[in-house]
Amino acid sequence: MLEDIAAVLDGTQHDRGAAGVSRVVDHPAHEVEPIPAVCTLSLQKSGYARSGAARGVTCTASARARRSGDGNDGRKRVGTVIAVANQKGGVGKTTCTINLGGALASLGHRVLCLDLDPQANLTVGLGIDLNTVDKNIANVLIDPDLKLTSIIRPTKTKNLDVAPATLELSSAEVELFNAIGREMALRDKLSQDIVQRYDYILIDCPPTLGLLTLNALVAANGVIIPVQTQYYALKGVAALLKIIKTVQARLNPKLKVLGLLPTFYDSRTILGRDMLDSLRELGDHQVFDTVIRQSVKIGEAPTAGVPITVYEPRSDAAKSFVDLAKEVIGAHK
Ligand SMILES: Nc1ncnc2c1ncn2[C@@H]1O[C@H](COP(=O)(O)OP(=O)(O)O)[C@@H](O)[C@H]1O
Ligand SMILES: [Mg+2]
Repeated sequence: MLEDIAAVLDGTQHDRGAAGVSRVVDHPAHEVEPIPAVCTLSLQKSGYARSGAARGVTCTASARARRSGDGNDGRKRVGTVIAVANQKGGVGKTTCTINLGGALASLGHRVLCLDLDPQANLTVGLGIDLNTVDKNIANVLIDPDLKLTSIIRPTKTKNLDVAPATLELSSAEVELFNAIGREMALRDKLSQDIVQRYDYILIDCPPTLGLLTLNALVAANGVIIPVQTQYYALKGVAALLKIIKTVQARLNPKLKVLGLLPTFYDSRTILGRDMLDSLRELGDHQVFDTVIRQSVKIGEAPTAGVPITVYEPRSDAAKSFVDLAKEVIGAHK
């Protein structure tokens, strides 16, 4: 499977065909439909002064090709698609997706949270009972005729919708593997009609670097990488950044790394402070100014099926996610 993903990233795809014979199909980058976006970002660029190189300090918005349209309220939609990715589990991806979504919604934006993890934590965390989910993102990815709109549900939170997942998504990933254009499946669905309905579409990725995460990176124009402020925090991030670079080169030139997001920060510990410093100083990465601290409330909110901005709007944690939302919005001005 990994070899096949490498082949996809090489710009080629193995189509096994009816007889199971593998042939190679080209997917040149120029065939990739441009994705709207991006962004001037108020992010710190660690290592910038050290290296003197201006690479990626900010994401400029010079070519802000918006796929805009009229939403239900007649407003123009920017339709910014952001993947939240890190192949390490438990770093705060789902938490970031739900709560950034809640914060953006609280600021008046129309938001879709899309669950691309078979564990379906995002779906459950937004208050959806999995027993009530029939068609879900797995069906949408596999069935060319099933529209993403048909599975989207409102949540208890104003301005916040969800595209649910179920455990079926893991078998869908396997099935998708033999499909032509498999790495484009999500992007194709998003390009149909959804992007025009929302200001932000946030994709919660699974804790793997497989085909689902690849689909998210191909569909997105920005990626946020939550990183725990603990030892080995950056372990694995290099592999993700390498894949992102290849995706940018081969499949999605519009994809920008919006930044690393420090999570589980505990300012009372020397370790936490050291890790945050080293994230900012040592890494050759953009790091958000906003830091997500360890917080009991953050862990509690999903049990109520709402983001922290609804569960405990006056908490420091809620304020942090609003700050993060403002950084993300700033990235798109
Ligand atoms: N800042 C935080 N403070 C306290 N608990 C957190 C925080 N961020 C996440 N959690 C909890 O840690 C667990 C893992 O977080 P999650 O967002 O599911 O990670 P991932 O999606 O990367 O696997 C969840 O139970 C979540 O509620
Ligand atoms: Mg998760």
